[in-house]
Amino acid sequence: MTTVLALLGSPRPDGNNGRAMEAVLRGAAAAGKLEVRKMLLNQLTIKPCQGCHRCLHTGRCVIRDDMDAVYDGLLTMDAFLLAAPIYFSGLSAQAKVMIDRCQPFWAARFARKTDLFSGRKRSGLLILTGGQPAYDGQFSGSQAVVKLLYKMIGVQSVGDFLAADIEARPMAQRPTDLAELFSLGQRLNRDGASAVE
Ligand SMILES: Cc1cc2nc3c(=O)[nH]c(=O)nc-3n(C[C@H](O)[C@H](O)[C@H](O)COP(=O)(O)O)c2cc1C
Repeated sequence: MTTVLALLGSPRPDGNNGRAMEAVLRGAAAAGKLEVRKMLLNQLTIKPCQGCHRCLHTGRCVIRDDMDAVYDGLLTMDAFLLAAPIYFSGLSAQAKVMIDRCQPFWAARFARKTDLFSGRKRSGLLILTGGQPAYDGQFSGSQAVVKLLYKMIGVQSVGDFLAADIEARPMAQRPTDLAELFSLGQRLNRDGASAVE
């Protein structure tokens, strides 16, 4: 059984990212037994990181809010899925605020030298959509942020799925992209399952 933590960073649950995420989850379910923990970040109350550095000493964030559920999901998952729209050439605030609150994982790994995941590598997939036609730097900053997150939470990427021009050509009108997302979902489950063994 693979447990996938699926985090939606768009405020529009049935928008392009939501649709892309569903295609991935369908693929993942087709590949083997799957438990999905889906969280709509826009519906969670997650306060931004306050930069207090207390997590460096305690390994735990001092703020108690809905991020606790995300922490639990991040600790227990076998596979990680994040889908987010590009806003101002970066990740949506919903996604970025969650990522900044992952500083305790950085603290654990680099300051406290503890391995919260017992050496287990989990699999990860990033989906990013941009409304504008492709342009230089549309996705690269967000990809760099998530690459660093993966390092902190012990995730090995199965790929980044990038879709530009999503407003002119929405996900619903992209059968080839949806098929690719389905295949990536299959890989996410298979790699996640092998990480568990
Ligand atoms: C505040 C805001 C800023 C945006 N900035 C960009 C941008 O810099 N580059 C871009 O390609 N699209 C930009 N867009 C378009 C979104 O990326 C697009 O609407 C989104 O990918 C659609 O995803 P969704 O249907 O899942 O919400 C922006 C949209 C909003 C609302």
